[in-house]
Amino acid sequence: MILARGAGRITIKIMAGLFSTATRERIRAASDIVDVIGSYVPLKRAGANFVALCPFHKEKSPSFNVNPQRQIFHCFGCHKGGDVFAFVKEYENIDFPEAVRRLADRAKIPIEYEQGEGGQQARHIKDELLQIHEQIAQRWQNALANEAGGQVARDYLAKRGVSPEAVKLFRLGAAPDLWDDTVNWARSKGYEPGLAEKAGLILRKEGSDHYYDRFRDRLMFPICDEQGRVVGFSGRVLSGDEKTAKYVNSPETPIFTKSKVFFGLDKSKRAVLEAGYAIVCEGQLDLIAAFMAGVQNIVAPQGTALTADHARILKRYTEEVVLCFDSDPAGQNAAVRSLDHLLASGLAVRVAVVPPPHDPDSFIKASGGSAFKELIEGAAGFFDYYLDHLRATNDVASDKGRLAVLRGMAEAVHKTGNTVLVDKYAQKTALRLGVAPDAVRAEFRKLSRAKPAGPESPEEPAPPLRELPPASPTEQWLLKLMLRHEDVLGWAAKHLDPGWVQHPLVKEIVSRLLAAHARESWSGLAGFVDECEIAELRNLITEAATDGRPIPNPGQQLSDLAMRLRNQFLDRQVAALLQRANQPETAETERLDLLRQQQEMRQLKRLPLSSASLPPGS
Ligand code: CTP
Ligand code: MN
Repeated sequence: MILARGAGRITIKIMAGLFSTATRERIRAASDIVDVIGSYVPLKRAGANFVALCPFHKEKSPSFNVNPQRQIFHCFGCHKGGDVFAFVKEYENIDFPEAVRRLADRAKIPIEYEQGEGGQQARHIKDELLQIHEQIAQRWQNALANEAGGQVARDYLAKRGVSPEAVKLFRLGAAPDLWDDTVNWARSKGYEPGLAEKAGLILRKEGSDHYYDRFRDRLMFPICDEQGRVVGFSGRVLSGDEKTAKYVNSPETPIFTKSKVFFGLDKSKRAVLEAGYAIVCEGQLDLIAAFMAGVQNIVAPQGTALTADHARILKRYTEEVVLCFDSDPAGQNAAVRSLDHLLASGLAVRVAVVPPPHDPDSFIKASGGSAFKELIEGAAGFFDYYLDHLRATNDVASDKGRLAVLRGMAEAVHKTGNTVLVDKYAQKTALRLGVAPDAVRAEFRKLSRAKPAGPESPEEPAPPLRELPPASPTEQWLLKLMLRHEDVLGWAAKHLDPGWVQHPLVKEIVSRLLAAHARESWSGLAGFVDECEIAELRNLITEAATDGRPIPNPGQQLSDLAMRLRNQFLDRQVAALLQRANQPETAETERLDLLRQQQEMRQLKRLPLSSASLPPGS
């Protein structure tokens, strides 16, 4: 649905374009939209278009269209549309620059960056850090696969039942049992120690220029960003040594922020989109076990609770989350602590409880993948889980304990701001505690009147959004004519005033079309769509342009249409003038003036379109 803020005025923002237009157009020219989309979804020829089942929403008959002539796609079911960059961006859930980069790679076109201030330096260091991460990942993979020193890690993986396929897919590695292996490796590769230190791979001994390895004698898990680039590591201890930490992780670096990265998301994002929900488990080994058992819509924040950033990332992929943490108290508390951020981001939450003493990894090893699937599918809604959790952790035989349960529930439910839920769980809580529902409801209401938790209360609510009605058939037809017959744009630029168009989105598109034409910056429809930074505009454009059937007599139709739009515009002006003239508080002289203007407007309706005396646009 199309939404517009307030009066429907849209601010225009031309994207600052990381890539030069020339580069983008070269990449586009080398990326035929049918080839590219066809490599993701099977396309079938249907008249002038190709069709497929839409990859962006569930459907049984194909309403997803690709138009080879205009190099755009549009789904008539979910109204998504755009050019080849937009498709890759949407399908892969990546940002625009990354989509451009992917297509450039595919077409083997080197990328030029537009000159940007300051950013160059930062990009340079990030590139270097990405490179050293990629190379050390390869080094550790090789150590695990081929070196004598990797034997301990190989034995450990065999013991834990991690398959060779999993080792390969997740690029597991082994860091040798030495203090200077990475230090020497970095030197041999020509990396400054300072860079390896910045990458978090080595540490400097205090007060000296002596360096030593961070990861020693550990099973190495590369942590990837959403695009699959290695940005950090987590290393698990291999020896039974109780003194060292079980896991050592990369520190925060310019390319790694632990609270913003999910282990596994680069590999699971398609499955999350397809399943419609994401499973969240604690650790790498849990995720790998689930993944190899065929449950692939799963991510791991790598220990403990989810952050607000984590919740926001998940929200980009899905509406629902199933928490599946360890059965120990630490895991259960992490589930509870994750709630605030999850609810604040609007995600629905369920909780799957692995039977003690298991974690998902050991449960899958013990009971198999299908038992795990059942566990996930049967996961209870968060509040049902939470009610059980509170009952288990409080003494419900005492008044004090019962009150604690009641308060805990009330607080949690209020975080949703959903009054239906408040009532439902007041009822449930009462039943489970064996107390009168009315008393519980009263208690719930008392809490809702109390001030919501201080500084962390949710952000200001957005101003109310008014739903925009669809454009009139006349205005929709205007769009079709202008978008499908570029040859009429010249005429339209001279004779059509965008101010005559009523619908704010159509008006915006018409203005932009005419402006692009006037600037002679028109380089085809796909480029035009690409420049539109507002999704609603893009969708409306591709919707109007995708139908491949030719329109008979487009020039004549456009001039008739323009005439009709102008006259409707004049009628609205006349009506407005009359209304003002007829208001009792209007002075007599002003009233006469308004009536005279109104007469002139009526005259204008008789003039041909080309007349120079047309009223100004808006
Ligand atoms: N973790 C961490 N640092 C620690 C302990 C744990 O970063 N000192 C993170 C790791 O990502 C780990 C997750 O928290 O995978 C869950 O911890 P835990 O349940 O202790 O580890 P498991 O994944 O179960 O590992 P294992 O099965 O090998 O014990
Ligand atoms: Mn665990």
